[in-house]
Amino acid sequence: MNTKKYYITTPLYYVNDKPHLGHAYTTLAADVLARHLRSKDIPVLLQTGTDEHGSNIEKIAREKGVAPKAWCDGVSADFRELWKTLNIKYDYFIRTTDPAHEAGVQAVFEKLLKTGDIYLGSYEGLYCSSCEAFYDETELKGKNCPVHGRPVERVSEETYFFKLSKYEAALLEHYAKHPDFLSPRYRAQEIVNFVKSGLKDISVSRTKVAWGVPVKSNPRHTVYVWFDALLNYATGRGYNPDGNSPDFADAWPADVHLVGKEIFRFHGVIWPAMLLALGVALPRKVYAHGWWTVNGDKMSKSKGNFIKAEDVVREFGVDALRYFVFREVTFGQDGDFSMDAFRRRYNADLANDLGNLFSRLMNMAAKYLDHRLPEKPGESEIFRELSSWTPEIHRSVEALRFSDALEKIWQGVSRLNRLVDARKPWELAKTDPETLKLFLHEMVWCLRLIAGWLDPFMPDTASRMHMQLGVGRTSDGTPPQKVPPLFPRMQPENKPNDIRTN
Ligand code: ME8
Ligand code: MG
Repeated sequence: MNTKKYYITTPLYYVNDKPHLGHAYTTLAADVLARHLRSKDIPVLLQTGTDEHGSNIEKIAREKGVAPKAWCDGVSADFRELWKTLNIKYDYFIRTTDPAHEAGVQAVFEKLLKTGDIYLGSYEGLYCSSCEAFYDETELKGKNCPVHGRPVERVSEETYFFKLSKYEAALLEHYAKHPDFLSPRYRAQEIVNFVKSGLKDISVSRTKVAWGVPVKSNPRHTVYVWFDALLNYATGRGYNPDGNSPDFADAWPADVHLVGKEIFRFHGVIWPAMLLALGVALPRKVYAHGWWTVNGDKMSKSKGNFIKAEDVVREFGVDALRYFVFREVTFGQDGDFSMDAFRRRYNADLANDLGNLFSRLMNMAAKYLDHRLPEKPGESEIFRELSSWTPEIHRSVEALRFSDALEKIWQGVSRLNRLVDARKPWELAKTDPETLKLFLHEMVWCLRLIAGWLDPFMPDTASRMHMQLGVGRTSDGTPPQKVPPLFPRMQPENKPNDIRTN
């Protein structure tokens, strides 16, 4: 029997800052896909977590006057709290400070030392001590650090290298044989060109960073944070070169690593090369989505323009946010977040199109349908037609074409709104109550379909709809109730000015 689960991952987010809309976005996308697959009875494993080592985290903990681990505990908990708020159902939350992960990283390092894929050398470069990072000649501003504007020094540091150069040909072959490995395809060429231009071995240890996984055979070194973090996808499933947990085979290879486009190279080049070196199968797909800006600007600490998902949720509800981010922008592309656009979509798509349709029909159903619904939707033409859209909607979700799926669902919503306008059920109520009942039956069945389609995107809304759509089916004969609006309209006067962008 095949117990392989559909394994979805998000990046492990750094704990040097609080979570914001960008982090929420990737994790929500993973949740939408996972919920969809679960609804089709496909076993899923969704793993997310936090990336907790490295100089930046060491530094911020020092600034805050707390121990690095204590700092990590706090921010990592903030991430988990936000996933709860956003109704994200993950299966496993990994932290790179988890002992099992650290042990896995150490074992990988030792194994690759033995095979010669990791070797000791020295790194010479231009170093900015404020950044704790090396720069290329070409990256400098004159002779200075591009971030701090201060002179860089030429330093040489003993370091372990990973033989990335050795995997150039194997990577190119893999990309060619698996055209979906680097997704979406319009981002693949950049990676292919990068590899073709020639790969250099990369430094994978630090002697200047104490807050990291020590190299077992030479603890003066800690493992470079990316080498450590990438391994989470495997260690979180029980991978360890000294002996895997039997669960590893249930999840590996990963089906999709969801990442932002800025870390595509790490996931599309370094990570598969590490796996090749370890003799572990490569993930099926790395999918790099685009970046959200806010009112046209890059979200940044210095600009203080972070959108906090909690603030949006407090004002508009979770599902409005879940809807907006996947409807407004084609997944994969960059997008811009503005409260104006958000409010516009909230009022037009959610309060009007969906919310009004639902409450109009449910209120009529409460008034005129006092008996059980027929078990089957019957001969309704509109139901038959809408039902035939299900495979297309499912395919869109599975291909991560979330906005296509939502667009199609809203086409259905518009169809129903037009039908209600044309059939004028409020007039039928006076002239032809039997026809009215049949019409409301059809509509209830259609709304059930819509609720089912919406479920992975807006689970809470879908379950509220489903509850109401049990119309007349309650065994105790309780008549259906009048429903509160799914999405109360936002008036300009209670327009929240307090959604801060910092
Ligand atoms: O890169 N728009 O962590 P990170 C869209 N720890 N997505 C965004 C975004 C934005 N403006 N900002 C962030 C790291 N993201 C490493 C990853 S993985 C082994 C290690 C999302 O905290 C997007 O998924 O900087 C991006 O790739 C990720 O957050 C970066 O999170
Ligand atoms: Mg980042």
